[in-house]
Amino acid sequence: MKAVVVLAAGHGTRMNSSIPKVLHAVGGKPMLQWVLDAVKILEPDQVIVVTSPTLAKEDFLKDLDIVIQEIPNGTGDALHLAYKKLNTDINEVFLVCGDTPFLCKNDLKKLLDSQHDLVAMGMKIEDLEKSYGRIVFDESNTPLKIVETKYNQAVKSNPVANAGVYKFNKLMLAKLLPKLQINQESKEIYVTDLVELAVQNNYSVNVVLGSEENFIGVNTAYELQMVEKIFQTKMLHKFIENGVSFKAGETCVFNHDTVIEKGAYIETHVIFGKNVVIKKNVRILSFCYLSDCIIAENASVGPFAHLRGKAIIGENSSIGNFVEVKGSNIGNGTKAKHLSYIGDAIIGEKTNIGAGTITCNYNGFEKFKTMIGTNVMVGANTTLIAPIQIADNAYVAAGSVIAQNVEANSLAIARAEQKEKTNWTLNFRAKYKKI
Ligand code: UD1
Ligand code: CA
Repeated sequence: MKAVVVLAAGHGTRMNSSIPKVLHAVGGKPMLQWVLDAVKILEPDQVIVVTSPTLAKEDFLKDLDIVIQEIPNGTGDALHLAYKKLNTDINEVFLVCGDTPFLCKNDLKKLLDSQHDLVAMGMKIEDLEKSYGRIVFDESNTPLKIVETKYNQAVKSNPVANAGVYKFNKLMLAKLLPKLQINQESKEIYVTDLVELAVQNNYSVNVVLGSEENFIGVNTAYELQMVEKIFQTKMLHKFIENGVSFKAGETCVFNHDTVIEKGAYIETHVIFGKNVVIKKNVRILSFCYLSDCIIAENASVGPFAHLRGKAIIGENSSIGNFVEVKGSNIGNGTKAKHLSYIGDAIIGEKTNIGAGTITCNYNGFEKFKTMIGTNVMVGANTTLIAPIQIADNAYVAAGSVIAQNVEANSLAIARAEQKEKTNWTLNFRAKYKKI
């Protein structure tokens, strides 16, 4: 039986942030969640997350086995605490760090295949300045120990870095964990010291190699930014391969769950928040902010549009510049092309929403619905005071404040009647010339 231990209790001091490090997101998903998703490939019988007291309160951890490490005394101490919570039938323990968001399923499988008491994941690094611990081998390439670079700069010339991912035989852990000593320089207990202890106690030790990009550890805000960039580039390449066109894709920002179908065209500087689905042949013009929305085939959105809160944009419809759509369903072929707020509305097909139309959906306490039918013309600068219904084929005159329902095929006008004073200007100006 297999257990996975995820270490996530570190202070993350180098991050310089009030949020626990592993909650920082990559592609909109917390690093710890990426790791928890990746380890599923191991089909563990138990998953234990070692957390700080603050992190333990997070909602998404509530169904997992949690071990609270009150004081972050080091990765070895964290594993020791988790060990005490292992189910009795567990015989293999996998250890991963919560700050490695690209943890790759294929590399994790390599650990599964290696039958040794201790298997450590290594990676050949090109930039020798990186702070990863280094795996030291003897002349016959047998692993001897892991040395942290922080207190031993000389070891930096060794290009085999420790990825921070391991598999342990549980019986070996029972013997060796109590023998782990506090590192005299850092005053922490290092899990990495288990390698040397295992060698000294004649356990079989193996190192399998994975690729560095899959084990990037995030310790600083700068590294988080680098990782985000890598993620964004990966997403962009995936979309391009799937037949999505971009004008300058590197200016767009994707979320991990962004769906863009073949044939869509995305102009520049489009931000995809969570839960966005763009269907085939949709055009998204520059500077749109999209979250929680579905845009159906052949629709056009933007430039400068804001869609959110379960917005559904129908096929062939058009949402233009400075239009915000929140929690609304826009029917097929409907247009709202300029300067509007459409909130909590249901709009039928082939309706035209004139420039400056505003749905007044909120009275300070409650939200109300606006229902607009099919083939309706809402004139420019109309204010629709919800709850309200405008039935099919109705016209609403420009500049109206509509507070009562409008029947099908009617014209509703709700604005002050125009008066005209003939030659008023001439008299007015003449009066001032006299002074
Ligand atoms: C660690 C390894 C290093 C490896 C690198 C890979 C040690 C001593 N060093 O270094 O060899 O190259 O990961 O990314 O293990 N944590 C706890 N409790 C603690 C301390 C840390 O749960 O008391 C957690 C952290 O939240 C983090 C993980 O363990 O998720 C690793 O800790 P971190 O301080 O980031 O270790 P590194 O210095 O990166
Ligand atoms: Ca780290």
